[in-house]
Amino acid sequence: MRQHVRFLRQYLTSPSSVGAVWPSSQSLARALCEPYACADRPSAILEVGAGTGAVTRYLGRILRPTDQLDVCELAPAFLRVLEEEVLSDASFDRARNESRVRLIPGRVQDLPGAGRYDFVISGLPLTAFSPEDVDEVIGTVRRLIRPGGVFSYFEYVGLRRLSRWIRLGDRRRRMRRVSSRLDDMIRAHQFRRRVVLANIPPAYARHLCFDKRR
Ligand SMILES: C[S@@+](CC[C@H](N)C(=O)[O-])C[C@H]1O[C@@H](n2cnc3c(N)ncnc32)[C@H](O)[C@@H]1O
Repeated sequence: MRQHVRFLRQYLTSPSSVGAVWPSSQSLARALCEPYACADRPSAILEVGAGTGAVTRYLGRILRPTDQLDVCELAPAFLRVLEEEVLSDASFDRARNESRVRLIPGRVQDLPGAGRYDFVISGLPLTAFSPEDVDEVIGTVRRLIRPGGVFSYFEYVGLRRLSRWIRLGDRRRRMRRVSSRLDDMIRAHQFRRRVVLANIPPAYARHLCFDKRR
């Protein structure tokens, strides 16, 4: 419950960057990590927008000894929780001792390099971002991911449609532009979608591969 209160407090401080009032459930974490959990080769994973670590904790349980995990988060308050309460958990002992897990503060857009990760698992609130930020984040993910790599992210069921109805003026226009970008990406590259009802609110876990067209 402490995590939930912190999450809510951070949302009130920075709503468009946190974009959710409640952390992801265990079921959503499992659905987001499904392609990695099924991988049969050594893998490099990037988790972006880790928040209070709902997905990170799950990754700690399934991380294999051949694999490495980078966790990127923007908010200093969440970075403290990740450092002191999540990555310090015994499930990360071995990976930490072998320097296979790193906490990276800052914006994902500022991560250097190209073709570094087999899996990028995102908790970023893309639907709360400006269209320009969505373009920048997707461009960054495409740069960082290896050929054949998988990008997994979630969005709340019906949120985009609902916001297009209830929002007015600039906010409605922003949502339309974000939505059209996400729809283009989904149409071109999504290979799997899971509906996760056991989450507040229910969510889609989406999995995309940028090398393949559907
Ligand atoms: C909806 S919360 C997700 C938290 C967690 N993954 C979960 O599912 O419960 C989004 C997180 O993304 C972080 N964030 C927002 N913009 C970011 C950026 N450009 N780079 C890295 N993290 C960012 C926020 O600080 C917040 O912790």
